[in-house]
Amino acid sequence: ADDAALESRAPVVTIMGHVDHGKTSLLDAIRSANVVAGEAGGITQHIGAYQVKASNGDKITFIDTPGHEAFTAMRARGAKVTDIVVLVVAADDGVMPQTVEAINHAKAAKVPIIVAINKIDKPQADPNRVRTDLLSQEIVVESMGGETLEVPVSALKRTNLDKLLEAIHLQAEILDLKANAARTAEGIVIEAKLERGRGPVGTVLVQRGTLHVGDIIVAGTAWGRVRALLDDHGANIDTAGPSVPVEVLGFDAAPEAGDQFAVVENEARARELTDYRVRKRRETLGSAGSK
Ligand code: GTP
Ligand code: NA
Ligand code: MG
Repeated sequence: ADDAALESRAPVVTIMGHVDHGKTSLLDAIRSANVVAGEAGGITQHIGAYQVKASNGDKITFIDTPGHEAFTAMRARGAKVTDIVVLVVAADDGVMPQTVEAINHAKAAKVPIIVAINKIDKPQADPNRVRTDLLSQEIVVESMGGETLEVPVSALKRTNLDKLLEAIHLQAEILDLKANAARTAEGIVIEAKLERGRGPVGTVLVQRGTLHVGDIIVAGTAWGRVRALLDDHGANIDTAGPSVPVEVLGFDAAPEAGDQFAVVENEARARELTDYRVRKRRETLGSAGSK
């Protein structure tokens, strides 16, 4: 009966790689290539995550490269955010320390990697060097006889972005990602801040269930009744299902990136949970201070 409730969900993809290898450029290029007519020219990314839609309706959720710190925090709490890592390696620079770090993150989380060899437009680009560099990290790409999907791209010239999206869809099919959209929502806080005029704002990724305006939400020691949900275009929406990134207004305080969130049945339960967590936190701080 539980299985019957499972539905396909969009893959959640994180772009990782060494500094300046083109993570943000690649995300921006994918997003602007995918923007519906009429919106072009006015692309504003409202939140640190967005969804793109293929012509057949298949969606992919991209999470903008959060600082490695946020990621480490999420991992330390045992939260799995991403289904697929797109590892960006600049073809003119090769595998660098943060490339190796990203590979280790992905391996530890048992998340498949797709290699995007970026900046192939540059005269100094040497994709083969990237491939052999990766071999020493035990990543064998397809053209070297391995199974790791690889796509040479140029974020600047927008070369092969369609091929990269295809590779992500292919990898997602293999993973056969499913979630129950009918239950109460659970997921993870991607980023959070206190905004003048808007109050505490959390960008969350719904992982299971459906989040509704009016739900009572708890994340770490923060809670509230969801006052508004805003999608990646800043538009008000009533509900957000699995793999949908959404901005949540209504928290009593800003939650923290990496906090898991859940919808609970009523305010009393939300107070009970957050009071308990605040007490636990004080105890931990207290015992650390008395040492
Ligand atoms: P950090 O977030 O600082 O780690 O960098 P990043 O990985 O997001 O790289 P970013 O997108 O900021 O790009 C770094 C530089 O590389 C910028 O000057 C980009 O214009 C340039 N760049 C990115 N992609 C390409 C590409 O495909 N070709 C060329 N020639 N330059 C690129
Ligand atoms: Na940069
Ligand atoms: Mg960047």
